[in-house]
Amino acid sequence: MLEIPSYFTRLYTAAEIDKRVTEMGAEITRDFADRKVHLVGVLRGANIFLSDLARRIEVPLSYDFLAVSSYEGTSSSGVVRLVKDLDESIESEHVIVVEDIIDSGLTLNYILEQLQNRKPASVHVCSFLDRPHSRNINLKPDYVGFEIPDKFVVGYGLDFEQKWRQLPDIWAIN
Ligand code: IMP
Ligand code: MG
Repeated sequence: MLEIPSYFTRLYTAAEIDKRVTEMGAEITRDFADRKVHLVGVLRGANIFLSDLARRIEVPLSYDFLAVSSYEGTSSSGVVRLVKDLDESIESEHVIVVEDIIDSGLTLNYILEQLQNRKPASVHVCSFLDRPHSRNINLKPDYVGFEIPDKFVVGYGLDFEQKWRQLPDIWAIN
């Protein structure tokens, strides 16, 4: 059995997450009403969010994934590297980068630099969580699920040392 440690506190329940992701899907559906969108998921954290979000978007859609290395344990190394590139070209696509969480913004900044060179029609950012007070770089996502306080969180795809991604709720580690 998977036991939740006593120093974890629940921030958002699966029901609250589902409600918010439904709202985000509706927002994207409205904003891209006459277009086709191409979601770019950032592995591995955004996998679960992207799976739920995609099913709440009611315009034509495709998706692809990339992976970057950014974090070791709970503190950022500050070094970002592309470890898996997209499989498809994004030329002329309306790209929405789908992230699990934006902290310093270094990871996303690097990803946006990579994508902007490839002639997409547009690039937007959709992050499940945002910790705006940790930002090193001026970077504002277009869609955010929840703004969270300065606590490390796990669940709904987010990990601590590769564990806890499968938790349906979001938990803060104290
Ligand atoms: P940034 O480059 O500092 O914005 O960090 C973004 C990346 O760090 C995210 O894509 C996550 O993979 C990871 N990360 C940041 N904060 C957390 C957290 O609280 N829990 C799990 N992963 C996190
Ligand atoms: Mg990540």
